[in-house]
Amino acid sequence: MKAHMITYGCQMNEYDTHLVQSQLVSFGADLVDSIDEADFVLVNTCAVRGKPVDKVRSLLGQLRKIKAQRPLVVGMMGCLAQLEEGQQMARKFEVDVLLGPGSLLDIGAALESNGRFWGLQFKDELHEHIPPSPTGRLQAHLTIMRGCDHHCTYCIVPTTRGPQVSRSPDDILRELDLQLAAGVQEVTLLGQNVNAYGVDGGARLAGYPSFADLLRMVGRSGVRRIKFTTSHPMNFTEDVAAAMAETPAVCDFVHLPVQSGSSRVLRRMAREYSRQEYLGHIAAIKKHLPNVVLATDIIVGFPGETEEDFQETLSLYDEVGFDSAYMFIYSPRPGTPSYKHFADLPRELKTERLQRLIVKQKEWSKLRNAGKVGTVQEVLLRGDAHSEGFLEGHTRGNHPTVVPRAVGADGAGMYPVLIGHSTPHMLYGQIVGADGQPLPEIPRLEPQAAALSSPLQMA
Ligand code: 5AD
Ligand code: SF4
Repeated sequence: MKAHMITYGCQMNEYDTHLVQSQLVSFGADLVDSIDEADFVLVNTCAVRGKPVDKVRSLLGQLRKIKAQRPLVVGMMGCLAQLEEGQQMARKFEVDVLLGPGSLLDIGAALESNGRFWGLQFKDELHEHIPPSPTGRLQAHLTIMRGCDHHCTYCIVPTTRGPQVSRSPDDILRELDLQLAAGVQEVTLLGQNVNAYGVDGGARLAGYPSFADLLRMVGRSGVRRIKFTTSHPMNFTEDVAAAMAETPAVCDFVHLPVQSGSSRVLRRMAREYSRQEYLGHIAAIKKHLPNVVLATDIIVGFPGETEEDFQETLSLYDEVGFDSAYMFIYSPRPGTPSYKHFADLPRELKTERLQRLIVKQKEWSKLRNAGKVGTVQEVLLRGDAHSEGFLEGHTRGNHPTVVPRAVGADGAGMYPVLIGHSTPHMLYGQIVGADGQPLPEIPRLEPQAAALSSPLQMA
């Protein structure tokens, strides 16, 4: 069998795609790079907003057309598959295999079923399953928990991914050991709410460390860089900031979604913290980590959000000075409390607020990135950038970074980089040697064309 997977959504979905791909390979499938080459296409879906749902709908429409012309098995997995909305779509577009986020290990049974297979249960075996490490990659994801015990009124995830289940520290460390043996240098610990690790259904699990202690444990493994996502401010404790400060491998990078700067809106979102409490967490983080890089998620145009509420989001942005933000227009999701109980605001109003927020975000990202110019950053280079002769990667603070290939440093690896130039979304620099001087660049094949497309030439 030739299998092709297409992934929408978050890093959790990327992790799950890798998990299912490794299962497919163990069942004898070849992984191929395009729909054209495949006889099994599996779409890993996201349901968090209307847009990713629309994308899946149109992809399934295309796949149905291909299916009418040649034999093709179509599968759908992930968050949308768990919802009635996704299942209706699956029926309409003649999807053969449907796997919810808790049923991924049913992929073998699905392949054997030779026809329609729907798996929608949340199965415990998934939490103990340790996928093989991705080969040839310096970065890896590591799921430490699945599901979510919060009930933010806008969010479909507790429905799609079920209640929180923490993985045992032994399984986590075992998976990490495999990743280290495969050459991984940066691991990102994943969960819907990593700060609540080890406290499932409100009760601490015997033998499970707190998230802060898990960071300390992972820090002793020898991995060079540790990142984590995502944190819920409600479960944030100062001990996490302390653990970050005392564990050298943990990067000074915190993604702490605020969603709104207005306590009134936060209450309606059922976020369980106020603006002041959020700012208190930021102050604690900055106390322990003065050079921390801060990122957030913000939803604009939540039902009932007034101009004053929105102004509070803008002023909170200034108070924190986030390095970056993921910004979303509120999207009413069927099945969520806010969809049921609140009226959606007009689209133009939401769009206009998003645009104003993007202006704010760009100002801060520009300022923050400009502050890196002249500094040496440790950059994990992944490989070729879009422009010929350049490599791309990211810093400990998650800044995307581009450098020219240099003599002795022409591929993936961890390198010190002297930052020479920045934009709101990118750092540009040169790899430096032990003497702190930039290594000589490798001459490009077509110097003129390359110079034109070189990001270093951009204003
Ligand atoms: N509408 C818009 N954005 C949403 N998010 C979650 N649900 C919605 C929704 N209904 C955003 C939140 C969350 C991120 C993953 O997606 O900001 O942190
Ligand atoms: Fe990830 Fe949430 Fe989308 Fe599911 S719904 S894929 S958990 S972002």
